[in-house]
Amino acid sequence: MNILLLGSGGREHAFAWKIKQSKHCSKLFIAPGNPGTASLGENILLNLNDFNATADFCKSNHIHILVVGPEDPLVKGIYDFLKSDVALKDLIIVGPSAEAAQLEGSKAYAKAFMQRHGIPTAAYKEFTKENFEEGRNYIQNHSLPIVLKADGLAAGKGVVIATSHEEALKTFEEMILDAKFGEASSRVVIEQFLKGIELSVFALTDGKDFVLLPEAKDYKRIGEGDQGLNTGGMGAVSPVPFAQGAFMQKVVDKVVKPTIDGLAAEMLVYKGFVFFGLINVDGEPFVIEYNCRMGDPETEVVMPRLSSDIVDLFVAMDNHTLSNQQLVFDERSAATVVTVSGGYPEDFEKGKVISGLDAVFSPETIVFQAGVRQIDNQLVTNGGRVLAVTSLGSTITNAVTSSVNAISQISYEKKYFRTDIGYEFK
Ligand code: AMP
Ligand code: GLY
Repeated sequence: MNILLLGSGGREHAFAWKIKQSKHCSKLFIAPGNPGTASLGENILLNLNDFNATADFCKSNHIHILVVGPEDPLVKGIYDFLKSDVALKDLIIVGPSAEAAQLEGSKAYAKAFMQRHGIPTAAYKEFTKENFEEGRNYIQNHSLPIVLKADGLAAGKGVVIATSHEEALKTFEEMILDAKFGEASSRVVIEQFLKGIELSVFALTDGKDFVLLPEAKDYKRIGEGDQGLNTGGMGAVSPVPFAQGAFMQKVVDKVVKPTIDGLAAEMLVYKGFVFFGLINVDGEPFVIEYNCRMGDPETEVVMPRLSSDIVDLFVAMDNHTLSNQQLVFDERSAATVVTVSGGYPEDFEKGKVISGLDAVFSPETIVFQAGVRQIDNQLVTNGGRVLAVTSLGSTITNAVTSSVNAISQISYEKKYFRTDIGYEFK
């Protein structure tokens, strides 16, 4: 089968690495990809949001499966666009319709969906310019801290946890009146703060049945001990030690099943990954967010722990046989440590020469590339998150140690990474 994968980050390098191992994979194309994916398939120049060009590419290259890495094309309707083309009617698209992608594209849509289906989530209210004054009153009477969320996509930056009413009011004004996140913050969800440990759970669904992939926990803050600014993700571990037994049963019964049943009941077309951003509050799972795609850097620990052929799963998703699939996981622990550019998530420089990648050749360690570009024969940094270094080990501690050791072999100017990924589980 010919497979086209959209995206260019560490997540896509991990997907490409996994897809390439499938017995079904004949040709793999990645658009636009990065130097890491170029070693696994053919990188092609394609604008992710140019659906016409994607359709043409799929036709002329006889693509059987399209895997959409990031959320943007999904929320903008790539599924619906391609499916409306009769010449692409047999194309397997891993990713939901635009309507179903609203679970990620609109926080208010997701909250209302959860309410309709009795799925545990923080209490909330939504506000726009129209009920702005009501919003101010709501904030003034709300317990602290207060969580404010821009409704639309804001590249992971649209959530503010305010610790005072003044900060919450200021943020609320900035979001709605000053359009801090553009159109995305013209509607704001204000919700109760939940205290607990977060985890990410992933399902692959055809809109009716589902399989669960290995769960993971990501580390979003820039600093050790979860201090400082939020980033796209500084590392991840899998498995999550508390995600088992009674707790995981609750995740399935109270969150995953009601979500998939809700999609079916509302006739939402969803064939793809559902990412449940959860928080464990005293043994009870609550949904913090849905994403309509896999996580980054979670994919970089999930793919190495998935022993089953991923293309088998995509085919089963398409022909509604997911319930026959018995997934096999690698029982070892996986840890990803992300190296970033100095200064990230604030201003940083690009174009720093990366060396030492060849020195990392332990069979337990894989270096996934994220913000990397090749100029002539050199790899240079090209983003905030540069490399996602994943290792497998008998324990989370061993896996993290292997990744940290591998990173010490790699150099580029102002390299920064966290050494404490997985710290709660050591
Ligand atoms: P989101 O973009 O919805 O995933 O939110 C970003 C981050 O903000 C989450 O990963 C949580 O760490 C935090 N967060 C969001 N909502 C809440 C909440 N209701 N209570 C506590 N923390 C939250
Ligand atoms: N790691 C969180 C995300 O991909 O949104």
